[in-house]
Amino acid sequence: MFRGKNIFHIAILTYLIFNLYKLNFCSIIRQVKYQSKTDKSLDNKRPTWTSRYSFILAAIGSAVGLGNIWRFPYVMGQNGGAVFLLAYVLFIVTICFIPLMTEILVGKKTKKDCVGAFELAKPELKYLGMLNPITAIIVPSFYFVIGGWIINYTYKSFIGFQNDNPIQYFSAFTQAPVITVASTLLFLFICIFFLARGVKKGIEFINNVMMPLLAIILVILVIASINLPNAYLGLEYIFKPDFSKVSGHMLLSALGQAFFTLSVGMGSLLTYGSYIKSDKNIVKSAYTIIFSSTTFSILAGMMIFPAVFSFGLEPDSGAGLVFVTLPKVFMQIPHGNIVACAFFILLFCAAITSGISMLEVPCATLVDRLKISRLKAGVILFCIIALITIPATLSFGLLKDFKLFDKTIFDLLDFTASNILLPLNTLFVCLIGGWFLKIRGELIFKNKFLISVFNIGLRYVVPIFLIGLFIIGLR
Ligand code: TRP
Repeated sequence: MFRGKNIFHIAILTYLIFNLYKLNFCSIIRQVKYQSKTDKSLDNKRPTWTSRYSFILAAIGSAVGLGNIWRFPYVMGQNGGAVFLLAYVLFIVTICFIPLMTEILVGKKTKKDCVGAFELAKPELKYLGMLNPITAIIVPSFYFVIGGWIINYTYKSFIGFQNDNPIQYFSAFTQAPVITVASTLLFLFICIFFLARGVKKGIEFINNVMMPLLAIILVILVIASINLPNAYLGLEYIFKPDFSKVSGHMLLSALGQAFFTLSVGMGSLLTYGSYIKSDKNIVKSAYTIIFSSTTFSILAGMMIFPAVFSFGLEPDSGAGLVFVTLPKVFMQIPHGNIVACAFFILLFCAAITSGISMLEVPCATLVDRLKISRLKAGVILFCIIALITIPATLSFGLLKDFKLFDKTIFDLLDFTASNILLPLNTLFVCLIGGWFLKIRGELIFKNKFLISVFNIGLRYVVPIFLIGLFIIGLR
């Protein structure tokens, strides 16, 4: 009995020891497994898009912005209408395709931020890569000023333009310091908020919601606009070219506009490309981005010009076209407030998704280089950009007379970015992609002719063309 009890105890003890051992063993295994998993996840820490469509939508969200809906119609209005559109489309399908494709391919191949990608080509080149995040801090600093105006105009259209004179309202509003600075900072904050939430929860989410909304509002407004009396005059203006208006200045503006609306030259597409899973073929995505951006520009023209002509207003009123000329239209049509509201929400969606794609460039650089969280990167970016964007916002009012190189702060930022930094970055990404990272047409095409055109274009034609453009742009 005693013996039996002993055996019983020994059995229990053995069982316990065995189990403890097993437990420990399992936990060791679990720990090893966990370790290797975290090592792996450290390697694969770079976020990726949920699907090919997420990338396409985000890239379209980046491309379609104020450049298409605010800038394109007024630059087109100043440059003779249809001929400008023709030149713009021609440049997009020829010269712009190569840098667009190269930016995405460099990101996809290196899986790094702009600085890391250039560094991978040659360590010293990382300094050139830094120009991308710097540009992506300068451009939002003036782009977001318009973002702030849009927030305010959305609110204003909500409560109604009443009998305000749009010209007086615009000039009084843009000069008011507190409200403009507050709305610019609010715009910046919204962008940073979604940026900090990450690639899937922030960028993908906002594009999934806003891009379809943008398309729906735009189509409704186009239909409303082309049904106005005498709308055909506006359509003629966009689609019937007058070749006497062709000039060097017009062609240069069309090219700059084409690059800007495709989001080439700041590393946005490179950074978005670095989140693509390796096996995805991106040539179709690139076609979709190009097609969508061009369509949005044309639709924006079809929304604005028929309305402008229908009310006998001037198509070439410049940057105020959307803020001064359109409110005049809104005040005269039935349910003008609702239409105005829809229009400014449209502009807001377009600006937010593009703004986020700009900020993603320095954000990825901060996260990759300094190994900090996206939230911290967002806070740092907020502070830096606020510091530059506040004087830019005030350059329409308080700092109107403060000029550097004969330009207001807003104009100086715009000039430096559009005429110097964007073309330079585009040139560098083509040279580094074509000569160092061995980006080749074989990666995207099967057709031998297309492969040669791409390779020669990337390594010789586009760089020479860009150097020429750069020299002209500096004069
Ligand atoms: N394409 C956007 C627009 O049309 C602006 C933009 C976002 C951009 N990311 C960019 C322009 C990168 C140049 C480079 O408004």
